[in-house]
Amino acid sequence: MAPGNPYSLNQSDMPIQTASQIPLPEVDLNTYKPKDPVPVSIVKSEIATASASPNFVRHVEFDVSGTDLENRVIPGQSLGILAEGTDENGRPHKVRLYSTCSPTGGEDGNGKIYATTVKRVIDEHWETQELFLGVCSNYLCDRKAGDIIRMTGPSGRRFLLPETYEDYNYIFLATGTGIAPFRGMAIDLMRSGMKNDVVLAFGCPYRTDLLYKNLFDDLDQKHKNFHYLKFVSREDPRTDGTKPYVQYSLIDRADLMNPILEKDNTLIYVCGLKGMETGIYKILGQLGLFDYLRIKEKLNGVDPLDWTTDQVKSYIKPGERMFLEVY
Ligand code: FAD
Ligand code: A2P
Repeated sequence: MAPGNPYSLNQSDMPIQTASQIPLPEVDLNTYKPKDPVPVSIVKSEIATASASPNFVRHVEFDVSGTDLENRVIPGQSLGILAEGTDENGRPHKVRLYSTCSPTGGEDGNGKIYATTVKRVIDEHWETQELFLGVCSNYLCDRKAGDIIRMTGPSGRRFLLPETYEDYNYIFLATGTGIAPFRGMAIDLMRSGMKNDVVLAFGCPYRTDLLYKNLFDDLDQKHKNFHYLKFVSREDPRTDGTKPYVQYSLIDRADLMNPILEKDNTLIYVCGLKGMETGIYKILGQLGLFDYLRIKEKLNGVDPLDWTTDQVKSYIKPGERMFLEVY
């Protein structure tokens, strides 16, 4: 269905869709479980932001050679990390997942070195005002080359590129470390020489927080079909003064987006902050792009302009052409 005037929607057009029929590759899952993690060594850890920023994000690489992870992790999958030590109840820390940001074949092309993009969770407790440091993100960011960490995985079989990836166009919408899987996917797609369009819209607070900026600027310059859009929420207000959240790429860059969105072979991938999907569903509804959504009957007859956030949360899920990973 083509993007249209939101005021002329025919609600009976809204499909109720079933699970994705897009063929995704078979992947290895949970070869290493939390009870039996594999030791791997850190080979590199460097700042991933464009320049110094209070958003501390690192690109961390590890060597999985000789393990059953070698050559068996693909973009869209995650790896688990077990931090050392115990929680406040004396139990070993639970596993935390981190998306691989590496392309197929890893950083080295031989499937031995994989990487992730990790943000230190640092906060002040609202009431006590005590400093709060996330356990595993800080553990991982503190590790140096040569250190050994315990890893599980791989995990995830739904947030992958299709088997016949060259048959599709892609709109990737990312906030923060949600960029990780798209780094690997973008490298894979552009290396393959595929001709369809790939749009990467990335949202971050300040220009300093643009992750892997040089890589994406470079892909944008080298490939006519790769489009890198930056949405800097606290620096570039929209014309009405609101924050330019990444979902507004669908409206504010309609010149680029509409012709791609209206193609039947376009897929939308969303990764990053939990909650970002609600705004995306609303905008897709307002644009009449119901093909990307799975909408429960409860919303039949309700104009998308009137969809409340609660309704969107309860009654809308990604359709078969939309893939979601939020945390
Ligand atoms: P934790 O110690 O687990 O603390 C975080 C929790 O503390 C949150 O639940 C929060 O509600 C709570 N909290 C926050 N502030 C306070 C406070 N002041 N006082 C008390 N509690 C507070 N992360 C990445 O950085 N990069 C990735 O690529 C990535 N990929 C992921 C992929 C998947 C599929 C999933 C599910 C998650 C991913 N994550 C990623 C998130 C990651 O798994 C961890 O959740 C994150 O790093 C926080 O873990 P932590 O141990 O540092 O924090
Ligand atoms: P802001 O924090 O200005 O409200 P990071 O993970 O590096 O903090 O970046 C997350 C980015 O996503 C920020 O630019 C943040 O904007 C933005 N953001 C916050 N809430 C949403 C949302 N509901 N939908 C889309 N983007 C969001």
